[in-house]
Amino acid sequence: MKIPFYPMAKAPALHLSRAWDIPESEVTLEDVYLNRRKFLEGMGHAGLAVMAGWLLPATARAQTSGRDLITSESLTGGFNNFYEFTPDKARVRQLAKQLPLEGWSIHIKGLVQQPRVVDVADLIRKFAQEERVYRLRCVETWSAVIPWTGFPLRKLIELAQPLSQARFVKFTTFINPNIAPGQKDRFWEPWPYVEGLSLAEAMHDLSFMATGMYGHSLNPQNGAPIRLVVPWKYGFKSIKSIVAMEFTREAPRIFWQDMSPLEYDFEANVVPQVPYARWHQTVETRLGENRTVATLLYNGYADQVASLYK
Ligand code: MTE
Repeated sequence: MKIPFYPMAKAPALHLSRAWDIPESEVTLEDVYLNRRKFLEGMGHAGLAVMAGWLLPATARAQTSGRDLITSESLTGGFNNFYEFTPDKARVRQLAKQLPLEGWSIHIKGLVQQPRVVDVADLIRKFAQEERVYRLRCVETWSAVIPWTGFPLRKLIELAQPLSQARFVKFTTFINPNIAPGQKDRFWEPWPYVEGLSLAEAMHDLSFMATGMYGHSLNPQNGAPIRLVVPWKYGFKSIKSIVAMEFTREAPRIFWQDMSPLEYDFEANVVPQVPYARWHQTVETRLGENRTVATLLYNGYADQVASLYK
């Protein structure tokens, strides 16, 4: 696969001292910082403007010294995987404008106390919005550093009240070939896009439901109005524009396993020593930077998540 090189993103290096006590204004682009403040303040909900700090953990910062620049939004908003629209990464932005975002809801079902439909606007009002700057590592070997806004997935799971038999959560994206030409043009593919996590992974503090990025609501091409972000797994696990969450006993079969069972596995943790079927995974190219950097175990979040896999 050919990875395009973009001009250097103009963002300062993330601060490399302790993880939690850095003034935000020092670690980010000024306009992102100001937008973000406005965004959080403008939500007008008691307790909403909780600033979670920057979630690149101290150890990861030490390992990656000097390399984690926030990727410019002109890159993360213009180079997207959203196969429902098109496999052409540069065209997703234009086509995804058709996504009807008003009144979006998520169906919660399966092994839960009570199936229910939750309105995404209500969730945003209900849960304090936090910010997380996470690395995103695509299995195709490009990567980015993105400031998300949203809430921990755990909060939604607590609201859903899964039964004790539930072991997995299955996430589903919308299906609508009238607005998503990829679902019409490649109708034989196993739509809708489905992803899943074990309940233990889903309850982990790093598992995040993003409703915003760069200080504003999510862009359609990045998975508006609500998407999953699981930073220690390959990007395909971070499913966009979610319409359903189902609690199950068995691991769900995910879209990419159906597409190509020999290439994709359910767990999909970033483990650089394990090559993907068609290329190795030891290095990656940040969008906007014409150099490769070493890929880190669990994408640099080993201290936080390695205990899940012992
Ligand atoms: N979610 C849906 N519904 N459809 C997709 O095609 N692509 C995945 C993931 N989520 C995808 C998806 C892949 S392969 C990656 S790398 C990330 O989204 C890319 O997210 P980004 O475009 O916001 O960078």
